[in-house]
Amino acid sequence: MKKTVLDFVPPHIRTLAGYVAGKALRQAQRESGVTMVKMASNENPYGPSPLAIEAIRQAAPLVNLYPDNDATELRQELATRHQIAPEQIFLADGSLGLLDIMSRTLLGPGLNCVTSERSFISYPIVTRAAGAELVTAPMRNDAYDLDAVYAAINENTRIVILANPNNPTGTMFDADATEAFIARVPEHILVVLDEAYYDFATYFAAQRGVTYTRAMDYVRGKRANVIVLRTFSKAHGLAGLRLGYGCGDPELFNYFGKVRNAFSVSVVSEAAGLAAIRDEAHVRKTVENNAAGAAWLMPYFAELGLRAVPTNANFIYFEIDEDANAFAKRMQLEGVIVRSLVPWGIRNGIRVTVGTPDQNEMFVRALKKVVRQAVAK
Ligand SMILES: Cc1ncc(COP(=O)(O)O)c(C=O)c1O
Repeated sequence: MKKTVLDFVPPHIRTLAGYVAGKALRQAQRESGVTMVKMASNENPYGPSPLAIEAIRQAAPLVNLYPDNDATELRQELATRHQIAPEQIFLADGSLGLLDIMSRTLLGPGLNCVTSERSFISYPIVTRAAGAELVTAPMRNDAYDLDAVYAAINENTRIVILANPNNPTGTMFDADATEAFIARVPEHILVVLDEAYYDFATYFAAQRGVTYTRAMDYVRGKRANVIVLRTFSKAHGLAGLRLGYGCGDPELFNYFGKVRNAFSVSVVSEAAGLAAIRDEAHVRKTVENNAAGAAWLMPYFAELGLRAVPTNANFIYFEIDEDANAFAKRMQLEGVIVRSLVPWGIRNGIRVTVGTPDQNEMFVRALKKVVRQAVAK
């Protein structure tokens, strides 16, 4: 039999479980024939900053030109804000873009990346696509168990990724726990502090009187094996533009620069990012409403007898008494898209993004109906 190209797709790509995205709003509306609200992908329910929209408009006539490959202006602005050098910042098309570059730079067959079970779904993908293995440590109380993560490290480990707060459980560990962990990890292993939900977590931590993170101190102190990941996709409302960055060691970033696709941060993304970080009022409104929304939602889970985990981010993890895919489908029929956690291997787990007050009410209405339907069956 004649072989085809497909016969030569290597085994580690053949067996890759690709990313299963949250359902796109328009697709869900077409399927259900009703107007829907999407609370599935931890996006900003208040939209992008109006300043970012204006910046996008102004950048539009320039998109015939390739972007500034170094995103100089945005890098400079971020460097000033974080009190680090521009060379300590690496911008990419989302923090996902950076995770991919990182894996392709440091991983390969025979090597591994360590993280926790029930963490961000893209970690296994970027690791395995690089031909390496993902080692997951068990959780404790729905949270990262940093002792277990440490214990999972072996001589083939090159990267450890810590999602803080964790997606999908919304739990966090504090700055002292991070410090104790980093102090033990050998310096040839890259520790990635994924702080995608930084703004939300900072707000919750202040409410609770705890210190969420001192991650940027490692960058300022030139701790070469620590990278801090931040994104514009969450509190800044630019998920659709794909913009994220890492803060870390300039020498390592030189290697990342060789691996990355040129021009991966578009003209429009850089302009919108600059405007979005300057619109502090929009971020404040987003995090304040998020905390109020989470506090408003939590009692309803208890009322319905559902276990929900208190969040440090912009989503809530909860468990139901049935298959999560079936539950999510019935929620969709009620006009609300939530995330089934079956792709994470959690058969009865759901993640819902905190919405605007109207969206939260719609969610609770649908939740009550769907849970009661399940009980009545
Ligand atoms: C923990 C975590 N890291 C990274 C990302 C990806 O963010 P980005 O849109 O910047 O690629 C997400 C998105 O959901 C996330 O939850």
